[in-house]
Amino acid sequence: MKKILSLAVSLFLLTESFAQNPVINIKATQPVAPIQPTMWGVFFEDINMGADGGIYAELVKNRSFEFAKPWMGWKIERKKAEEGDIIIQNRHGNTVNPRYISVKANNISKGELGITNEGFKGMGIKKGLRYDFSVLYRHQTGSVKLHLELIDSKGSIIGETTLNPTGNGHSWKKEAISFNATETEAKGKFRIWFEGNGEIDLDMISLFPEDTWKKRPGGMRADMIQLLADMKPGFIRFPGGCIVEGIDLANRYQWKKTLGPVEERQLIINRWNLEFAHRPAPDYFQTFGLGFFEYFQLAEDIGAEPLPILNCGMACQFNTAEVVPVNELDSYVQDALDLIEFANAEPNTKWGKVRADMGHPAPFDLKFLGIGNENWGPQYVERLKVFTKAIKAKYPKIKLVNSSGTDPNGDRFDYLNKELREMNADIIDEHYYRTPDWFLKNAGRYDSYDRNGSKVFAGEYAAQSDKTVSVKNVNNWKCALSEAAFMTGLERNAQVVNMASYAPLFAHAEGWQWTPDMIWVDNLRSYGTPNYYVQKLYSTNKGTHVLNTSENGKPLTGQGDLYASGILDKATNEVILKVANISDKEQIREVNLEGIKKFDAKAKLIVLKNNNPEALNTFENATNVSPVEETITLNPKKKISLTLAPNSFTVLRVKLL
Ligand code: AHR
Repeated sequence: MKKILSLAVSLFLLTESFAQNPVINIKATQPVAPIQPTMWGVFFEDINMGADGGIYAELVKNRSFEFAKPWMGWKIERKKAEEGDIIIQNRHGNTVNPRYISVKANNISKGELGITNEGFKGMGIKKGLRYDFSVLYRHQTGSVKLHLELIDSKGSIIGETTLNPTGNGHSWKKEAISFNATETEAKGKFRIWFEGNGEIDLDMISLFPEDTWKKRPGGMRADMIQLLADMKPGFIRFPGGCIVEGIDLANRYQWKKTLGPVEERQLIINRWNLEFAHRPAPDYFQTFGLGFFEYFQLAEDIGAEPLPILNCGMACQFNTAEVVPVNELDSYVQDALDLIEFANAEPNTKWGKVRADMGHPAPFDLKFLGIGNENWGPQYVERLKVFTKAIKAKYPKIKLVNSSGTDPNGDRFDYLNKELREMNADIIDEHYYRTPDWFLKNAGRYDSYDRNGSKVFAGEYAAQSDKTVSVKNVNNWKCALSEAAFMTGLERNAQVVNMASYAPLFAHAEGWQWTPDMIWVDNLRSYGTPNYYVQKLYSTNKGTHVLNTSENGKPLTGQGDLYASGILDKATNEVILKVANISDKEQIREVNLEGIKKFDAKAKLIVLKNNNPEALNTFENATNVSPVEETITLNPKKKISLTLAPNSFTVLRVKLL
């Protein structure tokens, strides 16, 4: 059916141009400004189970017993209770990972004493896949075997093996063993039965699937990363978001604590654990198995510029609003300088060596660094100046991203925008979580921005179907289409807007705190929302230069319910036109490629549309709103007649000859 419909569209395109149709004129031979390769990127934050329970593929929740309640995620299985058979111990002198468990096996057989881990809302287990178990252990006395079992939601075993830890003595050893799953299960659990006679200590009880991204042991969930890679994002911003700020300064993100062996990375409570009383997540922690090294590696893998954001000496102003006294900022500033060394310096430097020792001797070539997330007021400006002076003195080429606060207008925004521009800020990060109507009305927002001043990073945006921070917000087509319309304005103003990213990126269907989100997952599945497809259409049709594109001499910013931008891709010698038609009526436009004598009769047409503004993608119908692509035939001697479907976003690529 889809095919027949698209054929009909092509046939329509083939028809003779109608003189009465309005004309979209593209000055195709006069590029106005370059589009930065970073233009369309992604914003990653460990919110909504984005990292732990999300892209970080660890299946065991609370593997090191360091959650506030050490048994969170675990259940002790006993046939007969024996006082002190499993206890939590706290190592003297280890402040990073102090807790472990001690198991006393008193001549027990399999099935008498064990522990079960519930995973993150269960464990997604796939039939035939290998699962890699590892554990830190030491035998105090005797010998204790571990029987490992994957179990399904009904309690049946769907994968098992036995580990016979060989070491004895008092030093910790790591042991690993792999086994295959016999069934697929979305709500699996993992159980260890103990057998033998003796006493064994256990820590870092871990289980990873084999099929991680690039098959890296202890790596990331491949299906989720693939969705990002498919977007070909120009940058990846990490680690957030409010995560950077922390509820208080102690809870802020500290990149140095996320490096090295995973057992030496000190976990902290995830701030989204406590943030919303209406979406409690008491078991949400940041284990940092996914840390800064892995983020840089991810950026490299998917061809995106890394954009780390660091704490600027201020905790979240919606929470404690703690600040570090300006004359005590040294260690924070040093963290920023060291991060640049970590990313860019040779292995013969202190931090370059840390990177090289983790397996990446070559520099990561960091070009951008964010100082502060959604911080505002003179207290931010004061601290930012200290950072800027120190960083620019040592690394003048690093472009700094500065915060303009939480909102795209109002006193706080106006104050910061003025101050930052007076400081000649490299890039100003603007955030907008607003209604679809706001997005439509603001498609011309950047038309009047100073072309020669600070550049803009539209760092977090998403149309809210209900209202900001409402649990009723959904990723419907109306919101996505309003973003597509708005983004024509970002693209048209690429001379000002150098970077843009939708936020948040990921959400687990059972573990989210914030909605809407670009990609939704459960334990086995993932899908892109209509918003994802809008983002992807922009980032995979990025082009290199802005072209003056107008109807009746004006950019299309809503006239006749149309929004448009035209760009040139010098690399492929194509003109790319993007048009959002937000009306419920089909519209026809003629497209004039001014100055172009010849273009290829074969053109590419990609249409994202749905007649129902409320339409959603779901796990069951993941591509309900998704692009349909076809090759169409144009008459190179005539203007291009373009039929724009109701409620549609259209991308047309025409090759110049
Ligand atoms: O994207 C969710 C949150 O929204 C981010 O953490 C924060 O920067 C903004 O308030």
